Amino acid sequence: MFPEFDLSLDALRALQLTRLKDALRHAYAHQAPYRAKCEAAGVHPDDLRALDDLKRFPFTAKSDLRDAYPFGMLAIPRERCVRLHASSGTTGRPTVVGYSAKDIATWAELMARSLYAGGARPGDIIHNAYGYGLFTGGLGAHYGAERLGCTVVPMSGGFGERQVQLIREFGARVVLMTPSYMLALADEFARLGVDPRGTAMRIGIFGAEPWTEGMRAEIERRLGIDAVDIYGLSEVMGPGVACEFVESKDGPTVWEDHFYPEIVDPETGAPVPEGEPGELVFTSLTKEAMPVIRYRTRDLTRLLPGTCTAMRRMARITGRSDDMLIVRGVNLFPSQVEEQILRDPALSGHYVIELSRTGALDDLLVRVEAQPEAAHEARTSSAAALGERLKGMCGLSAAIEIVEPGGIERSMGKARRVIDRRAKG
Ligand code: DLL
Repeated sequence: MFPEFDLSLDALRALQLTRLKDALRHAYAHQAPYRAKCEAAGVHPDDLRALDDLKRFPFTAKSDLRDAYPFGMLAIPRERCVRLHASSGTTGRPTVVGYSAKDIATWAELMARSLYAGGARPGDIIHNAYGYGLFTGGLGAHYGAERLGCTVVPMSGGFGERQVQLIREFGARVVLMTPSYMLALADEFARLGVDPRGTAMRIGIFGAEPWTEGMRAEIERRLGIDAVDIYGLSEVMGPGVACEFVESKDGPTVWEDHFYPEIVDPETGAPVPEGEPGELVFTSLTKEAMPVIRYRTRDLTRLLPGTCTAMRRMARITGRSDDMLIVRGVNLFPSQVEEQILRDPALSGHYVIELSRTGALDDLLVRVEAQPEAAHEARTSSAAALGERLKGMCGLSAAIEIVEPGGIERSMGKARRVIDRRAKG
């Protein structure tokens, strides 16, 4: 169904080189801000003769897209854009992304490919609980599911009881949402007395936020499904830049025939040796409306050799370079805390990290919900043990508060894992 899965490595590299030359020429000719960067760096698309030459070209950063707000990065007339999406961003202006009709078709195709890799098949009912709107999750997944030949339920996020009811009564085999929202729905299933194993649901394709192997195990245990990792970002397209194969669950395969990946040192921007961790950088190979050349994602991961196809995989994202917490001088990612929490069967994946400051010292508080079935007495020992594990992992002493089930606020999209009350100095 997807011949690209059978591409040989040589054929893939040849295809990438041809497409990369076109992509560079297109961006240079039609994206004034990128051409200006190339001119300043003294490079021209004709300088690219091999894939490796790409490293001589300037990066594109999120700030470049912001500076060009709203339409300055479009490489086609705005009138030819059939859709706009935008990512909210925590500060300042949103980032706007435009799509031509061809871009939307490519996206649907790559999202269909992703869903297929994740285990969805034509004819399946797909329950799509990614948010519809400016966020790329809802519409991106929707078009892909239709393209694959599935029946889509365009549910969007929220209304937990309704979600459970429709998953059960419509008979969805595949569900799409953030992993944290799936965990929230697991509670909703329990509250309503519905056994998820008694429904048709078999597969969940989860992404849009960092999650850990512990979270995968927790979701699979509680819902009796295969939990698959899907990755993407608006600036590069949306969901479906990479997706895991359900058969191997060994990290998302990057659809390298459309997005050329690199890993660079997040501080210096220098390429890191093959297989080493660093910041993920993407160059779009086929986008018309808004090509991105060497886009700095800020996502930290490694590239791994292909297993299911010749295309490379990415390891689970450990975090974003801008999500890294610095607590008393120690670097800490929320995912590291999640890993330690989920090693204890008495603790759930609903947690929040709170930072405050007394005097000159940072205070770290981890609030985490107990599993409903965990005995009350177990909580004190779980708190002490989690404190020990965190200390052992990063050397930081944290206060641990175990709260009742339902005590941590639920989100219907990307979970908010950190509340930082330290005054910005
Ligand atoms: O989150 C697109 C998406 C929708 C992906 C639905 C998957 C499923 P943005 O809102 O632009 O787009 O956020 C992109 O989310 O740079 C990562 O930091 C994070 N992210 C996305 N997928 C994953 C994942 C969508 N599987 C940002 N694991 C990215 C970890 C992820 N982080």
